[in-house]
Amino acid sequence: MKLPTSFVVVSAVGASYGAALLLKDYLGGERYKAEHEILGKTVIITGANTGIGKETAKQLAKRGGRLLLACRDLKKCEIARNEIIDESFNKNVVCKELDLASCESIRKFVKTVKDEEKRIDVLINNAGVMSCPKQHTSELFEWQFGVNYLGPFLLTNLLLDKLKQSQHARIINLISPVYKRTEMNFEDLNSINFYDPKEAYAQSKLAVMLFSQELARRLEGSNVTVNCANPGVSKTEIGRHLPMGQSKVSGGMLSPIMWLAMKTPVQGAQTSIFLAVDPGLEKVSGKLFTNSKEDSIAKCALDKDAAKRLWLISEKWTRLSS
Ligand SMILES: NC(=O)c1ccc[n+]([C@@H]2O[C@H](COP(=O)([O-])OP(=O)(O)OC[C@H]3O[C@@H](n4cnc5c(N)ncnc54)[C@H](OP(=O)(O)O)[C@@H]3O)[C@@H](O)[C@H]2O)c1
Ligand SMILES: *[C@@H]1O[C@H](CO)[C@@H](O)[C@H](O)[C@H]1NC(C)=O
Repeated sequence: MKLPTSFVVVSAVGASYGAALLLKDYLGGERYKAEHEILGKTVIITGANTGIGKETAKQLAKRGGRLLLACRDLKKCEIARNEIIDESFNKNVVCKELDLASCESIRKFVKTVKDEEKRIDVLINNAGVMSCPKQHTSELFEWQFGVNYLGPFLLTNLLLDKLKQSQHARIINLISPVYKRTEMNFEDLNSINFYDPKEAYAQSKLAVMLFSQELARRLEGSNVTVNCANPGVSKTEIGRHLPMGQSKVSGGMLSPIMWLAMKTPVQGAQTSIFLAVDPGLEKVSGKLFTNSKEDSIAKCALDKDAAKRLWLISEKWTRLSS
């Protein structure tokens, strides 16, 4: 019997697609399958309206937590909230306005959280921007240093007393391995003399790494832990400022390879979910995780003096102590 060519082609395409899906799933790392629930726990996720943050929120909502979606655009946040509720069957999901590019907004957010919430068990500093053109936040911080690092530094510190009231609270900071490519440029932290979008992203993520180490030291004995998550290269809106992210044509041409190589937002969210719920991590702090496994930390992020120096500067710049 001779099969029609079209049938053979369709089956071949179908089989390759199936194989590609399996390969992609394999390349993207394992899902966090353990069935731990987080009933009664409250989780804050910044930048939860899209990408990795939205998927993290969805999975944690399915595990029964109360979710605070901290977003700068309440319209986008509301759309994500509806999607999260629809898919998780958990209505305990609320939107709260938070713009990490404004210390005033951060302080206002913290005040509402403290007034309205009984407890905060998990803070996921997920929001981020990558390689944007040079611009400045309300306090005139370079945008990436401000949104990715100084904003979360202020937010986390202002929430610490609330977190300490929880039995075992966790802070999770999202980083990128590009932090390894640089050293903290203390001479020009705010990129006044020189601005390179990629370098500023690396600086901001190295700052988060140093901050996490210093915070872990300061939190010893408090039952509050802080760990970093490297989500891996994931297809989200993070590339919106890259030339390729803007051009549909070039993005489209590369897409089959990119599609295979890049994680889905669901895959990118797995390490954050693992860090938020895994019972084995209660006493683990100051570590970095990739694909839900402990990863080594590069030398530039282990420098205790740099971490202290950065902390003191950040305290001043964000007026934390005043
Ligand atoms: N995707 C990757 O390959 C990758 C790799 C390594 C690390 N990461 C890190 O993973 C985290 C999540 O990124 P993603 O890939 O999910 O990116 P994404 O799709 O671009 O989502 C980023 C989120 O951050 C929010 N955000 C941006 N600026 C903000 C501000 N000023 N105040 C409050 N929220 C703000 C965005 O809100 P709007 O929608 O309103 O802009 C959005 O919700 C980031 O920290 C990123 O650096 C991602
Ligand atoms: C930390 O947790 C343990 C066990 O739950 C508890 O006995 C201890 O009092 C807690 N310490 C602080 C500082 O809250």
